[in-house]
Amino acid sequence: MLLETLTLNQFRNYEAQQAAFCPGLNLLSGPNGHGKTNLLEAIHYGCLAHSQRTRKDKELIRWGASAFVLRLQGRVGEQAHTQSVEYAESGHKRVKVEGRESKRLSDLLGHFSVVSFSPEDLDLIRSGPQLRRRFLDVLLCQFSLDYLDTLRHYNGALKQRNSLLKQMGGNDVLAAYDEPLVEHGTRITLMRRRALADMAPLAGEAYRFISDAGEELTLGLSGSVSDASEEASLRAAFRRKLESLRVAERETGVTLAGPHREDLAIDLSGRPARDFGSQGQKRSVALSLKLASARLLEAKQGRWPILLLDDVFAELDESRRRRIGDLVRGKGQVFIANPRAADLPFEPEKTLNLRHGTLA
Ligand SMILES: Nc1ncnc2c1ncn2[C@@H]1O[C@H](COP(=O)(O)OP(=O)(O)O)[C@@H](O)[C@H]1O
Ligand SMILES: [Mg+2]
Repeated sequence: MLLETLTLNQFRNYEAQQAAFCPGLNLLSGPNGHGKTNLLEAIHYGCLAHSQRTRKDKELIRWGASAFVLRLQGRVGEQAHTQSVEYAESGHKRVKVEGRESKRLSDLLGHFSVVSFSPEDLDLIRSGPQLRRRFLDVLLCQFSLDYLDTLRHYNGALKQRNSLLKQMGGNDVLAAYDEPLVEHGTRITLMRRRALADMAPLAGEAYRFISDAGEELTLGLSGSVSDASEEASLRAAFRRKLESLRVAERETGVTLAGPHREDLAIDLSGRPARDFGSQGQKRSVALSLKLASARLLEAKQGRWPILLLDDVFAELDESRRRRIGDLVRGKGQVFIANPRAADLPFEPEKTLNLRHGTLA
């Protein structure tokens, strides 16, 4: 996978710019506030049609403009590939793949895969379950259109069911809304578990590699309706759970069980990293999760995803930087924003100098 050019129009502080990239390491350099993170964000958005740092797409439109367009061109496998995404302030998102307008946003996925690293990844460990579910969802959607589709159905069913609960405190009609929730929800849980089973050893390995400590990183899915591993039993357990929650759901007006309540359990030697990990351990865990995502994508798609690293090396000591450098060198394309020269893990193939939203 190779991203050769990125064209930005009215995105953040970029008016109209084109950037050309190299295989290997691309360094984005420039003073603070001049657009390094914005350029990484543009790559991410161009690949997946959403930002890694905000869900408010409107913020991404250049101040004073009414829409932005990002266009990516490069190679996926041996094939030339182009895709573009346009977002207008009306909230309308348009996607083109190989120059043809696409009805579904999901057509954008599966070509350029991407994993972003930033100091905010620490929130994955520190914050509530929502961010962790999103992390899992974004990862799974990149390699499984089935997951994306099922998640969309599940979210639709959940929204309908919740609005019914709110309108009339739930009544006998409610049960009719259980079935789509159970159907799609069961599949979501199973697909998440399967992905985590694949990812856990990769994350454990990454953690051993970047931290010298003896504790062991393990991942699991918590908060599921049941531990049943078989689809039919899980489905039955989900139905029973919803029945047992009727009264409570009428009181609260929301659906109280299902994948939207699950969490990614992250433990260090059997204890939740969130509660017991030191700051440094949490940082290493966050980094391990991201490295494991990249390796999982590689395993699923047969190619290393694009890596976006925003200011992460500054926090690591030299030996860790070198080890991570060794891990990603020669694997694929890496974009790094603004490390001090001494923090670079290896020599960049190309340096892009950014000044006030222009590429010098
Ligand atoms: N929607 C927007 N329109 C215009 N400028 C923006 C927009 N959003 C952010 N900016 C500007 O982008 C700059 C920050 O760029 P950023 O990429 O975060 O800098 P850095 O190089 O430090 O990573 C700030 O000066 C901010 O004012
Ligand atoms: Mg920045």
